[in-house]
Amino acid sequence: MKVLITGVAGFIGSHLADHYLAQGVQVAGIDNFSTGQSEFLVGANKNPGFKLFQSDLFNYTNTEKILKEFKPDAVVHLAANADVRFGLNHPRKDLEQGTICTFNILEASRQAGVKQFAYSSTGSVYGEPTVFPTPESCSFPIQTSLYAASKLAGEALIQSYAEGYGIKGYIFRFVSILGERYTHGHIFDFAKKIKANSKSIEVLGDGNQQKAYLYVGDCIRAIDHIMKTQNEKINIFNLGPDEYLTVNQSLDVICKTMNVQPTRDYTGGKRGWIGDSPFIFLDCTKLKKTGWKATRTIRESVEITLKYLLENSWLLERRS
Ligand SMILES: NC(=O)c1ccc[n+]([C@@H]2O[C@H](COP(=O)([O-])OP(=O)(O)OC[C@H]3O[C@@H](n4cnc5c(N)ncnc54)[C@H](O)[C@@H]3O)[C@@H](O)[C@H]2O)c1
Repeated sequence: MKVLITGVAGFIGSHLADHYLAQGVQVAGIDNFSTGQSEFLVGANKNPGFKLFQSDLFNYTNTEKILKEFKPDAVVHLAANADVRFGLNHPRKDLEQGTICTFNILEASRQAGVKQFAYSSTGSVYGEPTVFPTPESCSFPIQTSLYAASKLAGEALIQSYAEGYGIKGYIFRFVSILGERYTHGHIFDFAKKIKANSKSIEVLGDGNQQKAYLYVGDCIRAIDHIMKTQNEKINIFNLGPDEYLTVNQSLDVICKTMNVQPTRDYTGGKRGWIGDSPFIFLDCTKLKKTGWKATRTIRESVEITLKYLLENSWLLERRS
């Protein structure tokens, strides 16, 4: 079995590479190191079953060459601009790093005869839904961020390729993922702010935004499990836990772990930024029916993530 992972030096991609390599799967990874960290691949690089291609998916010619050389059975496409919040600062970025790169890797996969194509989409594609928990069958009335718009366009391309060329499509709509090697999101921001000033902290919005979070190990197991057990033309799954936490509750856990009590300065409003969905809670009944189960609670995941960041402060310093 040969799997190619795009975004292999990133948070989720590096865990997925370690997971497959531990099973004896041959893994190739593509990464341009725009947000990826070479430190995350130290273990993988020691494994003879791993091959790294430092390359940008935006370059179709190189992408096609890599796919034809490695000839994977399956591709897991994780590379993207994973930062939802700053999309409006550079409106072309999500289109290029999301939609166009997804097209490039999808077409290169078709040319190389890939059988399974998996994709990291997001719960943000539901915009601001009115049904909670939100099932896969929920409609997408309005997109609220360029990030989610680009993810939804990627989903549509994969569905069309599955229909037209017979490549099996796996679309995973993740909630926010937590755990070791976490490099972006609210815990990263809060930990960084508290390290700079433990007396007061800025909280985006009113702190009452309700969010579901999933442990990275549970996310990886779900991807592997679904790709091994599901065989529809197109397989769409929400990935998340059975619970959610408010931003304030998450900050309580962070403050307790760091043993600080900063005063909280709220920027106000229900949303932290334009495109921030105030309530994300996905219905994962379909996933659970396949036998998958989360192993960590959100509170445990917040603690693990924070401890990892505090023990690896180089990451807090390196990434702005
Ligand atoms: N982390 C989350 O909470 C979360 C939630 C929902 C969806 N996702 C999606 O999961 C995927 C992985 O997220 P992550 O948290 O690991 O992000 P990440 O930023 O850690 O990883 C993305 C990786 O892709 C690489 N990359 C980006 N553009 C590239 C390009 N053009 N060519 C080659 N490599 C490129 C980066 O260098 C990085 O290593 C992303 O698609 C993200 O949108 C993540």
